[in-house]
Amino acid sequence: MLYGVIAVALSYLLGSVSFSIVIAKYVKGIDIRQHGSGNAGATNTLRVLGKGPGLLVFFLDIAKGVAAVWIGHGLGQNDWIPVLCGLAAIVGHNWPIWFRFKGGKGIATTVGVIATLAFVPALCAGIVAIVTIAFTRYVSLGSLLFAALTPLFISIFYFSVPLLCASLLICIFAFVRHRTNIVKLLQGTENKLGAKKG
Ligand code: G3P
Repeated sequence: MLYGVIAVALSYLLGSVSFSIVIAKYVKGIDIRQHGSGNAGATNTLRVLGKGPGLLVFFLDIAKGVAAVWIGHGLGQNDWIPVLCGLAAIVGHNWPIWFRFKGGKGIATTVGVIATLAFVPALCAGIVAIVTIAFTRYVSLGSLLFAALTPLFISIFYFSVPLLCASLLICIFAFVRHRTNIVKLLQGTENKLGAKKG
């Protein structure tokens, strides 16, 4: 039990390391949250700083999701701990203790968490998301589809209560964090990938 609590706490602290904030500060001396869409994430880093930093943030944010699940596997004694660690990393990314609780939308970290916990569902949802982004150039739409389809694919490919509960909660997180994107998508004013303004 104690190790489980430690694992979840460590995962939250790791998730709170917001790479977009750190890299934007290091590369350009700016707070990414005051530029572009204002989101502390890979898409906005790509928009504001370009491809290299954007991709770096994307992979580092994925990596912290993967690492959190590994921490859970290493320290936890039941199926819930890796799942709770993944959730904690996403919560940390969205509401980071190191950055006044103003973080990102959690999608890259979600990709890392889900891909580690349930690879096939993540792959299926990921393919749909990538195709959607390629055709519409709306990253937010692809992100929302990834989050919404994950519980569906998990229920098709696995029978795991912890995984299903976590993926539903992750889906709620994603929709809550993307609420301004959803309004913009409905109004037709959402940022497209490759467009300059945030
Ligand atoms: O994962 C974030 C992405 O879905 C939207 O980012 O910066 O366009 O709000 P952004």
